[in-house]
Amino acid sequence: MIDFHSHFLPNVDDGAKNLPESLEMLRLSKASGVDTVVSTSHCYAFHGSKSITHFLEKRKTAYSLVCDAIKSEKDAYPKIVLGSEVHLVKNLSTFPELPLLCIENTDYILIEMPFGKWKDEDFEEIYRIKNLGLKPIIAHIDRYFEFSEKFSELFSLNLLYQANAESFISHSNRKKLLELFETDSLHILGSDMHNLSSRPPCFAEAYRIIEKKFGTPYSHYIDTASQRILENKTVPVPKLPRLNPIKKLIL
Ligand SMILES: [Fe+2]
Repeated sequence: MIDFHSHFLPNVDDGAKNLPESLEMLRLSKASGVDTVVSTSHCYAFHGSKSITHFLEKRKTAYSLVCDAIKSEKDAYPKIVLGSEVHLVKNLSTFPELPLLCIENTDYILIEMPFGKWKDEDFEEIYRIKNLGLKPIIAHIDRYFEFSEKFSELFSLNLLYQANAESFISHSNRKKLLELFETDSLHILGSDMHNLSSRPPCFAEAYRIIEKKFGTPYSHYIDTASQRILENKTVPVPKLPRLNPIKKLIL
């Protein structure tokens, strides 16, 4: 299992507050069956290149701290892949450091959409990022169901889309998530874990719900898509088998 969205690095963003919390988040992830965690601390480039450089320095320090702490006990922890969750800001595509925010050794970059209503210029910015040769993945698409009137514009950009584990754990959004899968607009899963209390590691729980309620073709697809992203390969279109009406009713 590959957790594609996490904030476990200590003191980089609003995620883990300190090293012990960070290590416990990782330990719990591994114990639940997660083999790899992609680290996606928040990067807000409101001040352009300066913000990105500052973020990269903070991330490097936190990453070294974690690596030093786990090196003697590697089997108890998942493999860590460095990345970031890049908030979409004006002119993001023009910052020369942008490729440094990609998921390690890939051209894939996790993008967080703006907090307010999406504007045409947001879609244009994503288009320009794509034109640089980068491959945007839209973070936690399930957070944006209230903006679904804009989904057709977002999906027409032909990107990859990640959903958060908690949305599969609660019943309320499962039908909407199924619709995203059925329209080939959902590819990978992330815990978006921030701490041990309010936003704990929960990837494996969601993954098992997908296996049980949606079926193994869905969980296998997530595995394949995640693995291919880490190998910087193209991700196949989901084209998943439709659920029968009874299974849909008891989602
Ligand atoms: Fe996040």
